Amino acid sequence: MQSRFSDFLASIKRKTYLVVEKKIHDLYGIHADNILVIPGGELVKTRQMKEFVEDALLAKGISKSDVIVAVGGGSLLDLVGFVASTLLRGIDFITVPTTLLAMVDASIGGKTAINTPYGKNLIGAFHMPIDSYVDFTFLDTLPEEEFLMGMAEVIKYGLVFDKQLFEEIENKSASLEKIVLRSREIKQEIVAKDPMDKGIRHILNFGHTVGHALEFLHNYELKHGFAVASGLVFELALSIHEGYCSSYDLDRLKELLQMYKFPLQSFCKKLLYSAMLKDKKNRDGEVYFVLLHEIGRCVEKQGKYSFPIPKETLWSIA
Ligand code: GLY
Repeated sequence: MQSRFSDFLASIKRKTYLVVEKKIHDLYGIHADNILVIPGGELVKTRQMKEFVEDALLAKGISKSDVIVAVGGGSLLDLVGFVASTLLRGIDFITVPTTLLAMVDASIGGKTAINTPYGKNLIGAFHMPIDSYVDFTFLDTLPEEEFLMGMAEVIKYGLVFDKQLFEEIENKSASLEKIVLRSREIKQEIVAKDPMDKGIRHILNFGHTVGHALEFLHNYELKHGFAVASGLVFELALSIHEGYCSSYDLDRLKELLQMYKFPLQSFCKKLLYSAMLKDKKNRDGEVYFVLLHEIGRCVEKQGKYSFPIPKETLWSIA
């Protein structure tokens, strides 16, 4: 891995500044001329850490024509991408995701952000990485639970965009590498159509309206993938309630989540609704949902992909 990664770095014909997650640095012994090692995880996404990284890069002499290479999980990529978006009014950056979740989500699409005491990802910018380098050997050291975090997103891609991918996961007929590459292709295709998240990109939020609210209600102690898995079930049940999807598809989803041993959460829907109202994706005090016609196909009406659902409807979902 180290030599392939070094070859990749050498192929960047500009001065590079690496920001590497400590865990990865310790495991893989990454060395480079300009390197900053920082912790990873959700707690790193703070204003203070942004300032720390900015000052450290400035102290090392970074200039506008240089490239920042972010090596780590999704949280580190979100933070470093946001640093890159504002430092010297914008510096190019490259993502090197080291978790399954980051490979299929945060490393693509240019959503960068930090958290605030008022909620997750409330300060950020769209800043597209100029490249994203995947090395599957990073997954060799990925804990089982982190694998599930990524699988929740992969299952989401199957649900909203690619029935064949969903079936390959169900039948265990595709290799992990194939699944990752297909998921990245799907995200790239959707982001290319709607980089600023005004239409079709909303489908990537399937399961996340409920998922983010569950994370909030659990003070972010509930892992993202587990929250999203419960969100996928709820939002598919809502799609059935709205007359779009069949209960057979919900049974298939539940069976698949059981196969991977996702723990599904039970929750109070009234509390959930008040948490959902705080989400930045809401508009005009209403909570919007992506709905499924069937596995692999979302509801689209006149170019819109998410729809306001009254609270009484949400409360009635079993
Ligand atoms: N993670 C959802 C998106 O990038 O749009």
